[in-house]
Amino acid sequence: MMTQDQLKQQAAQAALDVVLPQLQPDSVLGVGTGSTVDHFIDLLATHRDAFRAAVSSSERSTQRLQAAGIQVLDLNQVSTLPFYVDGADEVDHQLNLIKGGGGALTREKIVASVADRFVCIVDESKLVEALGRFPLPIEIIPLAREAVAREIRQLGGRPQLREGFITDNGNQILDVAGLAYDNRPAEFEALINNIPGVVTCGLFAIAGAHLALVAGQEGIARLELQD
Ligand code: A5P
Repeated sequence: MMTQDQLKQQAAQAALDVVLPQLQPDSVLGVGTGSTVDHFIDLLATHRDAFRAAVSSSERSTQRLQAAGIQVLDLNQVSTLPFYVDGADEVDHQLNLIKGGGGALTREKIVASVADRFVCIVDESKLVEALGRFPLPIEIIPLAREAVAREIRQLGGRPQLREGFITDNGNQILDVAGLAYDNRPAEFEALINNIPGVVTCGLFAIAGAHLALVAGQEGIARLELQD
């Protein structure tokens, strides 16, 4: 029986197997944030000559990439990324995601938006029939905290400030329990992102993942939407 951490390591290895054969010496790879991605970075370290550099979605990942001897570029220096590899807090079968448990959701969404393919790596505990059990992280401008919280309550959510946490962008996070997306996560994403003071919410549904590699006790399940 593999532990959750061993499953995360398996998912990271599966992503490396997908990405590595496609990388060119001038490729720049988008790298996400979290404990699953930490495994991916550790695996990448032994292949650092197979690609040029990475763009990172957090200070945490930047430090780990640099410690592994991988050059980290600013996203403004890069116009194309063949892949973005990142974890998630929930994944549904349509490859909609909830992200932001680590608080890096805004940079994650930006870097993902530039990549040709978002490869999501998770252990099987993250795969759900419908998004919504994991409280939705929302990055907010601190001045707008109470105003945003009131709007969120109108939508049926129960917002809670992530105490003592400041994002890499200098903002705060509200974690919102109780939202029901009614199988319309993209509509909710747009609705929440439209509240003044919201930087972004952790729903990745307007643009979800292209491929999910889900590590379970029986091996890797590959979820991919047909075009
Ligand atoms: C970071 O902000 C999140 O979006 C992570 O991708 C997510 O929390 C998954 O983290 P783990 O890989 O640590 O489970």
